Amino acid sequence: MSDHPIHFEDHIIGYIRVEPFKKITDALDKEFINHQLEAFFKIALTSLLFILSGAWFVGRYLKKRFSALEKQANELTAGNYTIRSAIHKRDEIGRLATHLDTLAITLERNQRSRQQWIADISHELRTPLAILKGETEALIDGIRPLKRQAIHSLASEIERLNNLVEDLYQLSLSDVGALNYKKEPIELVGLLEDILDTFSTRMAEHDLQLTVDLDPCRDIDISGDSARLTQLFINLLENAIRYTNQGGAIKVSGNCKNEQLQLIIEDSAPTVATEKLPHLFERLYRSESSRNRNTGGAGLGLAICKEIVNAHQGKIEAKHSGLGGIAIQVRFPIID
Ligand SMILES: Nc1ncnc2c1ncn2[C@@H]1O[C@H](COP(=O)(O)OP(=O)(O)OP(=O)(O)O)[C@@H](O)[C@H]1O
Ligand SMILES: [Mg+2]
Repeated sequence: MSDHPIHFEDHIIGYIRVEPFKKITDALDKEFINHQLEAFFKIALTSLLFILSGAWFVGRYLKKRFSALEKQANELTAGNYTIRSAIHKRDEIGRLATHLDTLAITLERNQRSRQQWIADISHELRTPLAILKGETEALIDGIRPLKRQAIHSLASEIERLNNLVEDLYQLSLSDVGALNYKKEPIELVGLLEDILDTFSTRMAEHDLQLTVDLDPCRDIDISGDSARLTQLFINLLENAIRYTNQGGAIKVSGNCKNEQLQLIIEDSAPTVATEKLPHLFERLYRSESSRNRNTGGAGLGLAICKEIVNAHQGKIEAKHSGLGGIAIQVRFPIID
C-alpha cells in the first residue's frame, strides 16, 4: 500500500492511498473468473446468433412483402390494372398496399369508362355514316331518284353528324382544359329572353304553351361567357321541345336567394324515372333504353350543359316538374 501526498500552495492538504493490484493467486478464484468469462462469451455468442437469425427472418418477411408491392407497382406501370396485393395487414406496409389497391381500382375503372366512351362514340358515329352510305349508294345505283327531297335527307344526316362531332370536340376541349371562357358581367334574364324569342315559332309549331316568369331576377348580373350561356339555354330549350308531347307546356321561371340566381326550365310529360334523373348529365346517356333516332340525339347536350355551368361555378340539377315532365334547375353566383 502506498500514500501519495496532495500539495496545495506548498502545503500538503491530503493523501491518496493506492492499494496495490492484488494478484489472483488462489486456484479457486482463478477457476471462478474463467467460468465467468466463458459464460459471458457463450451468452454473447448466443445473443448475437439469436439477433442475427431474428434479423434474417424479419428481413426475409419484409423483403417478401416489399417484393409483392414492387411486383404490383410494375404490373400497374405495364397497364395491368386487375392486379391486387394479397397484403391485408393494418401496419404501414398494409396501408401502402391498400393505397396501391385503390389506385389499381381507379385506373381499372377509368380504363373501362374510356373504352366504353370510345365504343359509344363509335356507335353514334357509325349510325349516321351508315345511313349516308346507304342513301348515297341508292342514289348512285338509281334505286332512289335524285330529287331535292333526297338531297335534303342527305344534308340533314350530314348536319346531324356535324353536330355530334362538334359536341364531342367541345367536351374533349373541356376535358383538357382548353375551352376558353371570356367572362364579363351578364344580365342573364335579358340573355334568356332573347333566346326564348328565337324559339317561339318552333314552340308554336309543336303546339306548346310557354309561360315565362323571370321578373324576380331581372337586372341581376352574373359573371359569364355569353356564347357558352347561350349554348346552355339552347340545349335546355331544345330538350324541352324535343321531349314534351305536342300540346304540352313549357315554363321558364327564375328567383334569387342566398346570393344565387336560379333559373328553372320545366315542361310537361313525358318525364324521366326518378332513379334516372342524376344520370341525365352523363355523356351519351339517354333515358330511353333504345337509342331512338327519331325522338332523340346522342345524349351529349346535358353533359355539355353541366360543363358550362361548372365553369361558371354554378350548379345544375334535374328534378320532376309539377307540370308532369322534368325541371332543370340552374344556379349561378350573383356578382355584387
Ligand atoms: N326536358 C326533358 N324531358 C324529358 N326527358 C328529357 C328532357 N331533357 C332531357 N331528357 C332526357 O335526357 C336525355 C339526355 O339529354 P341530352 O340533352 O343530354 O341528350 P339528347 O337530347 O338525347 O341528345 P343531344 O342533346 O346530344 O342531341 C335525353 O335523351 C332524354 O331522354
Ligand atoms: Mg339534348
